[in-house]
Amino acid sequence: MISPENCKVREFAPGSPERKSVEAEIEHQRLNPRDIDPVINGKRIQMDHRTRIFEPHAHARTLGTFGSAGAREAQLAVDAANAARREWGNLPASARRAVFIRAANLLEGPFNDRLMAATMLGQSKTFYQAEIDASAELVDFLRLNVAFSERLEEWQPSSEGSERNRLELRPLDGFVFAASPFNFTAIAGNLCLAPALMGNTVVWKPSERSMLSAAFIMDLFEAAGLPPGVINMLPTSDPAAVGDVVLADRHLAGVHFTGSTGTFDHIWRTVGKNISAYAAYPRLVGETGGKDFIFAHASADVDALVTALIRGAFDYQGQKCSAASRAYIPRSLFKEVCERLHAEVSKIRYGDVTDGTNFMGAVIDERSFDQCSNFLAYADKTSGHKLIAGAAPDRGEGYFVPPTVIACESATSKLMTDEIFGPILALYAYEDADIEQALEIVDSSTPYALTGAIFASDPAVIDRLSKRLRFAAGNFYINDKPTGAVVGRQPFGGSRRSGTNDKAGSPYNLMRWASPRTVKEQF
Ligand code: ALA
Repeated sequence: MISPENCKVREFAPGSPERKSVEAEIEHQRLNPRDIDPVINGKRIQMDHRTRIFEPHAHARTLGTFGSAGAREAQLAVDAANAARREWGNLPASARRAVFIRAANLLEGPFNDRLMAATMLGQSKTFYQAEIDASAELVDFLRLNVAFSERLEEWQPSSEGSERNRLELRPLDGFVFAASPFNFTAIAGNLCLAPALMGNTVVWKPSERSMLSAAFIMDLFEAAGLPPGVINMLPTSDPAAVGDVVLADRHLAGVHFTGSTGTFDHIWRTVGKNISAYAAYPRLVGETGGKDFIFAHASADVDALVTALIRGAFDYQGQKCSAASRAYIPRSLFKEVCERLHAEVSKIRYGDVTDGTNFMGAVIDERSFDQCSNFLAYADKTSGHKLIAGAAPDRGEGYFVPPTVIACESATSKLMTDEIFGPILALYAYEDADIEQALEIVDSSTPYALTGAIFASDPAVIDRLSKRLRFAAGNFYINDKPTGAVVGRQPFGGSRRSGTNDKAGSPYNLMRWASPRTVKEQF
């Protein structure tokens, strides 16, 4: 099965028509704050309790508000999803595909600027990052999942004699709960569209930290002709109140989740507690935390390694589940790598993402800022940590955490083992002769196994490292950064405590939203 083509990425060069058009939309969204409310059965339910939406890189600027759904709205959304599911699920698959093809066309047309501007303003992404995410990746999820769903139907069981066998891809017998993260607009879209494409209805709780782009995703689905009740959106500042209701419903048939390991654990426990109340066993699909590594061998190309360390750790302020967060460098290269990182990281520009000159924006909010600051304070106060590059975080105008590199004497420093989710890269020098011991540390010093990269030039070494680290990452990169998976090219997901590894952007993920019926007909 060969993937269809990916969306072409444009340059958004200063002064280009596409850049000017997004800039005009940025201005428009800044001048017209948006009030967002739950969307249930196609209707907006206006809420009293409201939360301010702001620009992380300029937190005094207000982008709008969202009305917080509670238990009552959660129940309404569940009822709407349950009421809509037979009609949606019984439509010919081609009719459902047509909705998402229209969404892809709209996203390549008038919605492109809206979704890019909302992602830049609300999630502090640069033009480049917003294009890769809200434009290219979401178009890819839409178009490629449509293509995968068609091809999944092509495989049919064999028939003998007077029997005729077929496999019917039914939706699950219930609704799907989608809970999406702040860091990727495309992931939020995909968590809803993958189950909906396969005929399921969805109750969607977007992250309260990225509500602006979530509201535009909902607009996009509606503009594409998605019938009311198929995707019901619940913004909330009280996720537990919503989650408790949704996870207790008899017809919960699946959870499509991306977020923290702790929250996914909570979902599993809640589903376990409620298990005998469900009509069917819910499918739990989750992509959770990571502590993603780069492992360099003495034969590594240092230029490529340094580029990967910088891009892998600091693209989107390190707020990617895939971000390079710990690196193991042989002693023979360590001094050179540290010098190069010191020189190059110190030059990285960060600030307002909309001026087009900064490589980095701000972290998403105060909670994230505090979390990064606490790790930096720990490194500062605890012996065995040396600052290679970085400066003090500053929350004055925006939640800015400068790109930081810290060399750790111990491979068990919490900077080397804990998920930080910010622009902080921890380095460890291993002795060239002790490579086996270093590989054991890479494999076993964190509970995660999401992404990882190795750098080496000798093919025999690459083969040995790949085999030794076989279970250390679900997305494994050889001589490249561990980030930037492209839909259909690097299906994404990790195992161990990083998730159920159901590979977003592949037919494997779609099969989780189908409950096939085998039909044997005798003549
Ligand atoms: N698709 C994102 C990446 O690989 C998560 O960085």
